[in-house]
Amino acid sequence: MKKLLQFLIVLSVFNVLPFGQAQAEQRSTHNAQSLKDTFAKDFLVGVSLNPRNVRNAAEQDLIRQQFNSVTCENVMKPKEIHPSANEWKWEEADRIANFCRENGIKMRGHCLVWHNQFSDWMLYDEMGNFVDKEVFYARLKDHIQKVMTRYKDVIYAWDVVNEAMSDGGPNPYRESKLYQLCGDEFIAKAFQFAREADPNAILFYNDYNECDPRKSKNIYNMVLKMRSEGVPIDGIGMQGHYNIYGPTVEELDAALSLYAPLVEHIHVTELDVRVNREMGGQLRFSQEGLAISDSVQNLHAQQYERLFKTFRKYRDKIDCVTFWNLHDGCSWLGARNYPLLFDASLQPKPAYFRLVDKK
Ligand code: XIL
Repeated sequence: MKKLLQFLIVLSVFNVLPFGQAQAEQRSTHNAQSLKDTFAKDFLVGVSLNPRNVRNAAEQDLIRQQFNSVTCENVMKPKEIHPSANEWKWEEADRIANFCRENGIKMRGHCLVWHNQFSDWMLYDEMGNFVDKEVFYARLKDHIQKVMTRYKDVIYAWDVVNEAMSDGGPNPYRESKLYQLCGDEFIAKAFQFAREADPNAILFYNDYNECDPRKSKNIYNMVLKMRSEGVPIDGIGMQGHYNIYGPTVEELDAALSLYAPLVEHIHVTELDVRVNREMGGQLRFSQEGLAISDSVQNLHAQQYERLFKTFRKYRDKIDCVTFWNLHDGCSWLGARNYPLLFDASLQPKPAYFRLVDKK
């Protein structure tokens, strides 16, 4: 017995005991505070989840404690949920939705139309040729109706179209398969189908590199054009895949002040802050950092502080800020990009304290 006690004390000193004293004390530091309480008067604070997160008790606790909005990281994407014409895979999406229902957490839906992880079968016939675009629209409409109806009670906002604008070049639109078949009309159709499926959901156009002056103009012009034609785009989703150097406050402010008069809602939908210079939403990052130094950790905290200060300035327009993943250990960027507020052991990082202490 004495041996066991000694062993437990050693573990707890080295902070490796899952629910040891050391962690319990650390936890209590942030029990009193939370992200959702800190920003309660400003906006919801969300997190994107994979199904493993809601199977793990410690992660469930962290979600409940810190967040009041949830997005599925992958399992509601067309390819995941509707991989072929007669195949629906609801199980994992239901698991996350049920966790949210049981805990009274609202959800953002992600996403209905995207060139990646899309149900490409909607675009082609059995010979692999493009279908007539009316056939595609009928399939898309059915998809949107079924998915939105199933989660109507728990999802308050949807990313209807994701990443349809280009990063550069003469065409402001991304020349995806969707664009090749339909031009920009697929954007209008998707929003119309979504409005019909759930008139109460807030409908978003969502994109990355949204603070880049050229890309933000592309996004602005498209949303302006669509809205002037009566397309029901209620909001702009700023993905927020940033790094410790950028965007600067000026760049973020410029993007927010461009979008704010255009739409009723802005959501920051996929926030993370890499410790290298990479940015954006495409899978280009290759180099993971090494162990994080104190000075980089400090830059990371400072960048989060600047970002949230600017988000709060636009609190009348921004109603949700969502982190892309729960902790560094499950980040899509890899744990060694250190992009989030909680480390791989679920412990709050300096950036977390910078945010909750600032209030
Ligand atoms: C990412 C997921 O996090 C990864 O697990 C997946 O392999 C690829 O997609 N922009 C988006 C998100 O809108 O859906 C992406 O999520 C990240 C970039």
